[in-house]
Amino acid sequence: MTRIDRLARRIARAGRIAVLTGAGVSVESGIPPFRGRGGLWERFDPMEYATIGAFLNDPGKVWRVMLGELNGLIMRARPGAGHIGLAKLEALGKSVTVITQNVDGLHQQAGSSAVIELHGTFARLRCLNCGAVSATAATDLGILPPRCPCGGILRPACIFFGEEILPSDLLRSRQASAGCDLMLVIGTSANVHPAALMPLVAKQAGAAVVEINPEPTALTGRISDELLCGKAGEVMPPLLAAVQATLTDFGRGA
Ligand code: APR
Repeated sequence: MTRIDRLARRIARAGRIAVLTGAGVSVESGIPPFRGRGGLWERFDPMEYATIGAFLNDPGKVWRVMLGELNGLIMRARPGAGHIGLAKLEALGKSVTVITQNVDGLHQQAGSSAVIELHGTFARLRCLNCGAVSATAATDLGILPPRCPCGGILRPACIFFGEEILPSDLLRSRQASAGCDLMLVIGTSANVHPAALMPLVAKQAGAAVVEINPEPTALTGRISDELLCGKAGEVMPPLLAAVQATLTDFGRGA
């Protein structure tokens, strides 16, 4: 039995599936990862551009140097086979909760209905002065930093380094991880906590943990039961086909 067939059986048998995704699942949508060759942190020092202190110190610089480019990449991105595959699992009747570290909204665009955006979202902006929330897509980013009608500077609704994850999102992520039979971990280096703790929560609750990633991560061989070595866009289509075939066999009482 191939690794894909084995995972397809795990998925077909699972009652509740939790999925932790990271930047890797959006690489095939044209958004670079953060770490590794060609990663954003190779070009932008996260301490200079991705901490809340750096942003508040010089919002214009963070917008002009990094956020403007990131917004352009996100606006041009469309869901990839990884995002679409997870949405298809729901369409096949599986209960799937996606815990994503990504801020690109591509899981929702692909059709996933239960998405926890642990690191916030770039889809909304919030005024530092009056707190008003607006849609990024409806905001003129011709002049940076963008401003609210009240004159205040707008920040993305992402979680910068140095900021707390929303307690409600953290609680929901822990509940989904502790309540699943199977956790898929797709496209994350598992470097950043508390997101990287979710596979451990799942494991301790008795779930199987399976990674889909072209390379091993901090979880491999320690927390995860298996690593399907490959890109999300390569693994998901045959995996979905195998799940569909397995569910059909189950339907026939095979
Ligand atoms: N398919 C699946 N995985 C891939 C692909 C792909 N096509 N391409 C790369 N990867 C894997 C890499 O091997 C790596 O393990 O995706 C992972 C990307 O890791 P990171 O760049 O560290 O991204 P991520 O894990 O999401 O980072 C977590 O760190 O900087 C913060 O807030 C930021 O949310 C981010 C967090």
